[in-house]
Amino acid sequence: MPDKLHDLIQKKLEKAGLHSDQAEEVANHLVYADSRGIHSHGAVRVEYYAERIAKGGVTLDPQVKFEKTGPSSAIFHGDNGIGQYICNLAIDEAIPFAKESGVAIVGVSKMSHSGVLSYYVKKAAENDLICIAMCQSDPMVVPFGGAETYYGTNPIAYGVPRKTGEPILFDMATTVQAWGKVLDARSKNKDIPDTWAVNDEGVPTTNPHDVAGLLPIAGPKGYGLMMMVDILSGMLLGLPFGKHVSSMYANMTEGRNLGQLYILIDPKRFTNLDSFKDDIEETIDELHQIRPAKGFDQVYVPGERGQLREKGFLKEGIPIEKSIYDYLASDIVHTDRYNGLNAFAEKPDLNG
Ligand code: NAI
Repeated sequence: MPDKLHDLIQKKLEKAGLHSDQAEEVANHLVYADSRGIHSHGAVRVEYYAERIAKGGVTLDPQVKFEKTGPSSAIFHGDNGIGQYICNLAIDEAIPFAKESGVAIVGVSKMSHSGVLSYYVKKAAENDLICIAMCQSDPMVVPFGGAETYYGTNPIAYGVPRKTGEPILFDMATTVQAWGKVLDARSKNKDIPDTWAVNDEGVPTTNPHDVAGLLPIAGPKGYGLMMMVDILSGMLLGLPFGKHVSSMYANMTEGRNLGQLYILIDPKRFTNLDSFKDDIEETIDELHQIRPAKGFDQVYVPGERGQLREKGFLKEGIPIEKSIYDYLASDIVHTDRYNGLNAFAEKPDLNG
């Protein structure tokens, strides 16, 4: 159940050296991901995080600072603390700032991997703000027409407040598929669709073991979007960009210097909040009433399926791979399993 998973994750991160308040926040985040079915960003990440913490690649006592740089702009300095904790502090500062200024752009400068973006936009939307978020990640994607990787899977998310129920939560990587899905196909020795990835000649491949680069969504359009993410959440904050963004496993003894950016909008500065929320309900109702296409049960709004999954998992328990559970329940904290691995390397055995 969520409490048990939370407890196991928190204890493992504390064992690796993370302070308990930070470990608690990372556990909140990872349980959120798993409970919505976003298993690529849930408990599966703990052993990598634990190794990075144990090797000194995360600042354990980050000196954070919310620096207002103008009436509606700010930078949250994360000092390479653990990403989920840093971004949670940053969005908590960004929300009242945006309420005061009407619109706000807040960059988060220097942190480790930050997980699922919808976690942060959800908080803003629950406070009656529209929020767009984006962040950098490891260079694993070929630019359109290229045979070498340059950008990360650079995700984009947005959250919109609602009158009833949870906010609308859209959240996607700008690649056709997440790297975790290729790993999954590798472990099952199954082909992948030729739209997901390329080999080292830049040619689409169906062999998951030959993957040397992921493909952007919708060709040049996704490539353009991931470039925007890199400019706004990296270059704009003076951080490494493109292929210079640190790779997840390249050096686990140093901070990753990753960036994230929030654009927050208070609807009240543009329209009446109640009528805006009424319009959102109307649009959701209209979408729900659309006749489903053959093979579909209904039209969903972004984030809705995750919410439904969460309701089911809260009753039945969150499904976790046995190897992940065994690792979490063990005393193991690896210190040399991931360090120095190529981003496309086969994943090490968790309990080996
Ligand atoms: P996905 O492909 O599972 O979902 C993308 C979006 O489509 C979601 O908003 C989902 O609600 C929506 N959706 C899915 N099926 C739907 C349906 N039938 N009807 C309506 N909407 C539907 O997401 P993806 O691209 O696999 O990303 C997974 C997570 O990985 C995201 O949370 C993202 O933030 C995270 N991520 C984090 C990175 C980091 O470095 N921090 C890097 C890359 C991704």
